[in-house]
Amino acid sequence: MAEQFDVVVIGGGPGGYVAAIRAAQLGFSTACVDDWKNAEGKPAPGGTCTNVGCIPSKALLQSSENFEHAGHAFAEHGIEVKDVAIDVKRVLARKDKVVRQNNDGILYLFKKNKIRFFHGVGSFAGGSPGAWQVRVAGPGAADLGAKNVIIATGSKPRELPGVAFDNKLILDNEGALAIPDVPKRLGVVGAGVIGLEMGSVWRRLGSEVAILEALPVFLGAADEQVAGEAWKQFAKQGLKIELGVNITHVVTAKDVTVEYVDASGKQQRAQFDKLVVSIGRVPYTQSLDADRVGLKLDERGFVAVDGECRTNLAGVWAIGDVVRGPMLAHKAEDEGVAVAERIAGQHGHVDFNTVPWVIYTSPEIAWVGQTEQQLKSAGVAYRSGSFPFSANGRARALGDVRGFVKFLADAKTDRILGMHAIGPMVSELIAEGVVAMEFGAASEDIARICHAHPSLSEAVKEAALAVDKRTLNI
Ligand code: FAD
Ligand code: NAI
Repeated sequence: MAEQFDVVVIGGGPGGYVAAIRAAQLGFSTACVDDWKNAEGKPAPGGTCTNVGCIPSKALLQSSENFEHAGHAFAEHGIEVKDVAIDVKRVLARKDKVVRQNNDGILYLFKKNKIRFFHGVGSFAGGSPGAWQVRVAGPGAADLGAKNVIIATGSKPRELPGVAFDNKLILDNEGALAIPDVPKRLGVVGAGVIGLEMGSVWRRLGSEVAILEALPVFLGAADEQVAGEAWKQFAKQGLKIELGVNITHVVTAKDVTVEYVDASGKQQRAQFDKLVVSIGRVPYTQSLDADRVGLKLDERGFVAVDGECRTNLAGVWAIGDVVRGPMLAHKAEDEGVAVAERIAGQHGHVDFNTVPWVIYTSPEIAWVGQTEQQLKSAGVAYRSGSFPFSANGRARALGDVRGFVKFLADAKTDRILGMHAIGPMVSELIAEGVVAMEFGAASEDIARICHAHPSLSEAVKEAALAVDKRTLNI
């Protein structure tokens, strides 16, 4: 006899485990099925984000930035450090420990919220609306009955056609987070978020990094002014980025040879010790047995959903990377919460206009809302105001004055349409722009709010003042 639940969540990444917690908080009997296992074969919930994504990449970014600061930035503060050395084994071990802490934290949250956790692969065994059947195969094998199913099976890295990942020479995100020795020459295909973050890590640790990008523009999704500043800063750091390339051939032997046509049409050849391929991700649904119940996928392989994450099957929902929209952990989490609330008859809501983006390079890049180029092409009349960190006292004290904050506001109503920033800790500063936009604030509202001195957040206030051409400190 199958165990019965109000809600069964398939996938324990940030979308799935958060959906399970919210469902349990709302009083539903809830199960979460996740198949991720650690090196010992034990459950490791948290999905891509916790195991091979957000968390380990930020751990490595921090370690490598500390190393770079010790080697180059401390001297400016009068701190002399001799013989700075890096022990990659310990760097990776610390990263693994941070991941484990997060896995354990999620297992604790399951227990605390009385969520039944099943370790294994979940698939549809049949059923009908109100009585879905989910089979778990693996260590936690079981048959589950569910009034509602939430699919949160995430995504997988996309391969270059004909170039399979082996995580020895051709690395996906998992391989890029676990290179045992600093490679002398690291190639990266794709100057997107992973390419820039992982390229930064290994460059700081000593690799010569070359990034090959297909598009002729750099960071096309970001505001042009921010992308321009990032381009300048990354070039200064020695991150070699080549745009407009067409990779024609990849040969692996002792190392990796990449043949490509460059932007001017010339055939080129580059040799690397390892090649990271970070050209986007594809939705993962293979193990669900979706056909058995007639679950509809769209033409790109995502689970087809409406604006509220409903699939074509009553009582079956889908969230996170496996559905349309940005592949971001916080978007997956918010969809999970909203779906649990909708199941409870509440009005869960996710505002896609205010989902923030952060790239954790140095300087950091963050934005929310519309870019200048989007506003221009939509014909929206706007005013813009920006403020450089070079005029911010806290940034000077920190010793990091790169970048700026920029607001875009409606020309007539002054309502904030976007905030764009590059510079120190802008991953944190962007939250002010998100809150402001959620509350429908005008740039004048931000300009009138008291901000602590000295703080980086004053650059946010000054950028808002700049919309009205009345900055105080420049
Ligand atoms: P996932 O996290 O992919 O979780 C899905 C889970 O379901 C996995 O554990 C999977 O094994 C499991 N699963 C799949 N099928 C089944 C099945 N049939 N039965 C049981 N279990 C199953 N996003 C950010 O917002 N910030 C960042 O800083 C960031 N950094 C990233 C860095 C890297 C290197 C990568 C690769 C991604 C990063 N992301 C970041 C993106 C983020 O990881 C994803 O958007 C997020 O993990 C999506 O969450 P999810 O719950 O939809 O899916
Ligand atoms: P991406 O979409 O950010 O970047 C992929 C890049 O590869 C693009 O610039 C694209 O033009 C390029 N590309 C595609 N095909 C190519 C080819 N054949 N040759 C050369 N270049 C090619 O995808 P990425 O970096 O793989 O990351 C996947 C997703 O993971 C991101 O979109 C993001 O949603 C998420 N992520 C988020 C992070 C964050 O929030 N800080 C960090 C890392 C990943």
